[in-house]
Amino acid sequence: MTPEVSPARLMGRVEALGRIGALDGGGVCRLALTDADKAGRDWLVSEMRDLGMSVFVDAIGNIWGIRPGQRAGAPVMVGSHIDSVATGGIYDGALGVLGGLEVVTALNVAGIETETPVAVAAFTNEEGARFAPDMMGSGVHQGALVLEEMLTVQATDGSGVVGEELDRIGYRGNDAPITPAAYLELHIEQGPVLEAEGVRIGAVTGVQGIHWTEFVVEGQTNHAGTTPMALRRDAGQVAMRIGLEADQIAADAGPPQVATVGVFEISPGLVNVVPERARLTVDLRNTDGAALVAATERLIGRAEAFAAEAGCVLTHRPLARFAPVEFDARLVDRVEAAARTRQLSVKRMPSGAGHDAQMFAPNCPTAMIFVPSQNGLSHNIKEHSEEADIVAGTQVLLDLVCDLAGASS
Ligand code: GLV
Ligand code: MN
Ligand code: MN
Repeated sequence: MTPEVSPARLMGRVEALGRIGALDGGGVCRLALTDADKAGRDWLVSEMRDLGMSVFVDAIGNIWGIRPGQRAGAPVMVGSHIDSVATGGIYDGALGVLGGLEVVTALNVAGIETETPVAVAAFTNEEGARFAPDMMGSGVHQGALVLEEMLTVQATDGSGVVGEELDRIGYRGNDAPITPAAYLELHIEQGPVLEAEGVRIGAVTGVQGIHWTEFVVEGQTNHAGTTPMALRRDAGQVAMRIGLEADQIAADAGPPQVATVGVFEISPGLVNVVPERARLTVDLRNTDGAALVAATERLIGRAEAFAAEAGCVLTHRPLARFAPVEFDARLVDRVEAAARTRQLSVKRMPSGAGHDAQMFAPNCPTAMIFVPSQNGLSHNIKEHSEEADIVAGTQVLLDLVCDLAGASS
């Protein structure tokens, strides 16, 4: 029997996880390694155990459950993340993990023993909103980031350190990381393309490069009325010029270059006081790795010039540096074929957002399945995807897992 997705079961889990860390007015706040993240993890582990899976946790807190196959060996892995930004939607990341639970449930109900094992994974701190960089757990798991360094990362808001927070919530494990036979990630698109074109499934070809940089500017507080413009050391003015430069870099390059100033703080933050300190972050992304490196170099060079002109001291540090990644072309073909077999329209497309899949791509055949996002909204409590699209994407995931893991009843 061909295993089928149960819409009620799948959406029941989407709603159950969506209640953990729920915000008034919709959406969730499950920032990495907070109490809400712990509650989500506890729920997930309990679901995995109920499905008969063996559960593993590694030293950076990644969780994966394994459903055995006829043979031991590397599993076909399905995964994503259950942490969120502070103003997150209920689908970003959650869908990939809950789609994985649905795959295992459907296999169980159909009585199918796959040839190779099937794993469902949730990676620590994909978002990078509380601790930078993003994709921290999958990056460590796949050897792109150094465990010892990541364990010492401080929260951007000063609210903790990764290693201590893992201990506090009880998710610093000691299971050895694994490299799967293949890695598949189902995710909402988080952008407007599929909806605008009326396409049901995105066969993701790769992920654009991501450079995050933090700038801190030190100047001097002084009186806003008495200090002539030429004589002030205004950290706020330097920070504004850096932010505008980021915007100009994107304007000069045009698409696909994007630039975002997501954090902008000045102190002391008083109406009549020249700011003495400013901190801002710039997120630059591009599918062209060389263009992205050039954009970051231009930004840092101009920031240094702005600070020098204003008599301020500038420090900057990379928070994330990820090169663009291409997924396995043959596996992307199989995503396309699986969608067409189910009579679903499908489009090959790159991902604008970062994903755990990009950490697996260098080490094993990797691909992603996108479903449409209503109004292209994500990292927003109004993030929404239609049930029919969620079910369709999960069915494509299930069909692919059956294909890759070798399913027979
Ligand atoms: C992760 O969600 C990112 O793309 O910033
Ligand atoms: Mn995500
Ligand atoms: Mn996200």
